[in-house]
Formats: sequence, structure tokens, C-alpha cells
Amino acid sequence: MFQSMKNMLFDADKRKYAVMAINCVNMEQAMAIISAAQEEHSPVIINISPRQMKTHGTPEIIAPMVAKMAEGVNVPVALNLDHGQEYDDVIRVIKAGFTSVMIDASACEYEENINRTRLIASIAHENGLSVEGELGHVGSAVEGDSEKLDLYTNPEQAKDFVQRTNIDCLAVAIGTAHGNYPHNMTPRLDFQRLKELKDILQMPLVLHGGSGAGEENIKRAVACGINKINVCTDLFQCGRKAMVEAAAEKLEIDYMDFQIAGQNAMKLFIKDYMRMIGSSGKYYFESSRTREFD
Ligand code: 13P
Repeated sequence: MFQSMKNMLFDADKRKYAVMAINCVNMEQAMAIISAAQEEHSPVIINISPRQMKTHGTPEIIAPMVAKMAEGVNVPVALNLDHGQEYDDVIRVIKAGFTSVMIDASACEYEENINRTRLIASIAHENGLSVEGELGHVGSAVEGDSEKLDLYTNPEQAKDFVQRTNIDCLAVAIGTAHGNYPHNMTPRLDFQRLKELKDILQMPLVLHGGSGAGEENIKRAVACGINKINVCTDLFQCGRKAMVEAAAEKLEIDYMDFQIAGQNAMKLFIKDYMRMIGSSGKYYFESSRTREFD
């Protein structure tokens, strides 16, 4: 089932679990993600960033491919523009058939972030897409941004932001960052702030930088109200490692077997992560009707 993030995140909020949002640039990754979701009876979100769209997976090819795969399974699958910044990119993915967009104007001044986010939210909603915004700024792990408290999301400001932009979910900065953390350190997350954000907003919250954040942190973040977790770096590294190992074992490896080695490893990684964040087993279908497990 190909759909927007709105209903799946509403359910995740209601039943206190999180949905993986996984960066994906090609067919092998899409197959790993969607088959993992199907086997886990889990909803899933497929993310692609503007940079990934430009260098590898064009939206006009990714969107119909993911839509076709999603139609063939009986769990909800969304396709989301990750960190959309340019108006043209947003319009392009809407035309291509994405079901959701993130507008990330978090590096702008507050009022500019509101103006850009509100505009994209109205266009996306008119076209039936769900919308994610970001307030505070989730930066880069290697730059040490996870420890810069001035980048963290302010709960009172977040309330005003959500009311004025009409977004469906909000990405919050509470101590994670994108990419590998220096020296494999585990970040310290501000759970008190997360609880305040959840209390005041009462809506689906998003955690970016789901790689390397540590199992305990991730589970606690879900318990405190995170409903969507973005994961890229760890998954790409997992796929690459499996492919490198497969080639090292047999230099003349068949091209398809080489791809499948990465695909299978990524699928296992995703299934484990889905269990960790509680989305496994949340959707069970008899014919085309949804039945919830609990
Ligand atoms: P990681 O690469 O740290 O998993 O972050 C992914 C992300 O947040 C994409 O928006």
C-alpha cells in the first residue's frame, strides 16, 4: 500500500512506536526495505534527499518503482523527500508521485523557516501529500553539532511553529546529528526536552541521525515520543560491508550475487531496527483489510 506518512505516523503516535525512514537510491535498496517491512508486518518510509536524487536516483524513476513495489505488499509504504530545501525540488517530487515531503528550512531565520514551511505545507496538502518540517537544527555529527545546545529545539517556539505552518510532523533537535560520530562516541540526548516537546505539541515527532545513536538512546527516544526515525549512514555501511566481504571471498563473483549480498544484509539490518523501535507486528492484513495486533 502506497500512502502518505500522515496515517502511519498518527497510528505510531497513538500506539507509541516509531517508523523507520530509510534513505534509498536504487532498486536493490527499495527491495530490501519493502520486503523487510512486509515480513515484519511493519509500516515503512522511504526517504531520498535532493543530493541523492541528483547523483543517483532520479525521482521520476524512483517514484513509480517504489509505488509499484508498494502496491504489491499489504503494509503501508510512504515515499518522502528528505531535507527538501529548494522549491523546485518539492514541486518535482510532487509531480513525480511522492507521497510526502520534508521541507527543511531549519538553517534559516525563524520567520523565514515559518514562511517557507507554511508555503510548502499548503502546496503539498493540496496535492494530498504529508509534510514534515524542522525546527532547531540537526547538523553533522563529525562537526560536533550534536553537542551544540543553541541548535536544539525550543518547545515554546515549536508550538508557535506548528500552529503557524500546519505541518503533520516535526523533526526536533535533541542531541543526535547526521553521519558517523567522532571516535564512535554515543551522543547524549536531551530526553527532558523531548518530553516537554511531546507534552506541548501532542503530535508525531521525528528523530534525524538514527545511525550510531545507540540502542538505549533510540528505545528511550521512542518511549518519550519519537514516531519516525531517519536512518542512512548505518544502512549504507552495512550494505557496503556485505558487498566488500562477498567480493573478497570470491573476486569473480557474479554481478547479481554481488548486489544481492548487499540487499540481504540491509534487509536483516532493517528488520532488527524495526523490532527495536516497535513497528514490527503493528500491521496485520487479512485480504485487503487492516487488522491491528494490539
Ligand atoms: P544518519 O545518516 O545519521 O542515519 O541520518 C539520516 C538522516 O537523518 C536523514 O535525514
